[in-house]
Amino acid sequence: MRNVILDCDPGHDDAISIIIGASKRSALNILGITTVAGNVEVEKNTVNALKVSELIGLDVPVVEGAVHPLVRESEIAPEIHGETGMDGPVLKDPAKEKTPGHAVDFIIGQVKNSDGKVTLVPTGPLTNIALALIKEPSIKDNIDEIVLMGGGTFGNWTPAAEFNIYVDAEAAKVVYESGLPVTMFGLDVTHQVIADTAVIDRVGKIENDIAVFVKELLVFFAETYKDHFGFPGGPIHDACTTMYLINPEMFTFEDVNVTIETKGEATYGMTVVDLLKTTGRPENVKFATGVDTETFWNIFQDVLVSYGES
Ligand code: BDR
Ligand code: CA
Repeated sequence: MRNVILDCDPGHDDAISIIIGASKRSALNILGITTVAGNVEVEKNTVNALKVSELIGLDVPVVEGAVHPLVRESEIAPEIHGETGMDGPVLKDPAKEKTPGHAVDFIIGQVKNSDGKVTLVPTGPLTNIALALIKEPSIKDNIDEIVLMGGGTFGNWTPAAEFNIYVDAEAAKVVYESGLPVTMFGLDVTHQVIADTAVIDRVGKIENDIAVFVKELLVFFAETYKDHFGFPGGPIHDACTTMYLINPEMFTFEDVNVTIETKGEATYGMTVVDLLKTTGRPENVKFATGVDTETFWNIFQDVLVSYGES
């Protein structure tokens, strides 16, 4: 089984990503969930991670991480995810408590001590991952891949920058320049997996508590994406990461160089994707360009159905 740490800011699509990763369909050994400031304040993201893990019976440590980005002020996105960061469904307060300690130390400890290599799966700003790599660079030897959601050849927070990268571009730069294999699910591919009415209706036919929860997430997310972007539903961006870990073949990729813009006035947080190899810089990223959406939604359905099976 593949060892993974889910580093996230739940978040509607982060929650769905956790649900996919923890399902019977996936063969992941989830070492823990770490949280980071992103969609909303880190404390709220932690509560949401606890709620989701309790709902699905995922008994792993949930460890809180960075309160703010490396050098910039925090920016949050309640207009997309609501004040709680996971508005829509109402879950009871978790009985489970967060695990003491800091996410950065948890990541370092797990990577150092785990049997076999660890895959990091960040679906929020990259602050925790960058801090772990800075604090203990030797962990690189035991990380096999960083599978992240972020960036793209266009933006959603500014015209140039996607939210996760924009919030902490300095951290993103550390990660992208780390020399570790980075598999990147940016907006180019995540905007191909929009949970529109047809998807929501399909989820609505599945009769178990997890599917009901996911439907409520999707309904809220669809509303905010309609209001803000005129989309027919919410792209479940972060879910691409755990879907890839279940079935990489459904995605297509290009090996490219990606540079993170940290200085531009209009382009701060841009992921500069050298698709046409104009720079001659070495390829540092496996960049997702496409997805077989039929397979994606079929597996998504299977995952949710599997939660109703004993
Ligand atoms: C990313 O930002 C957040 O709103 C989502 O959870 C996703 O990780 C999309 O830009
Ligand atoms: Ca996220």
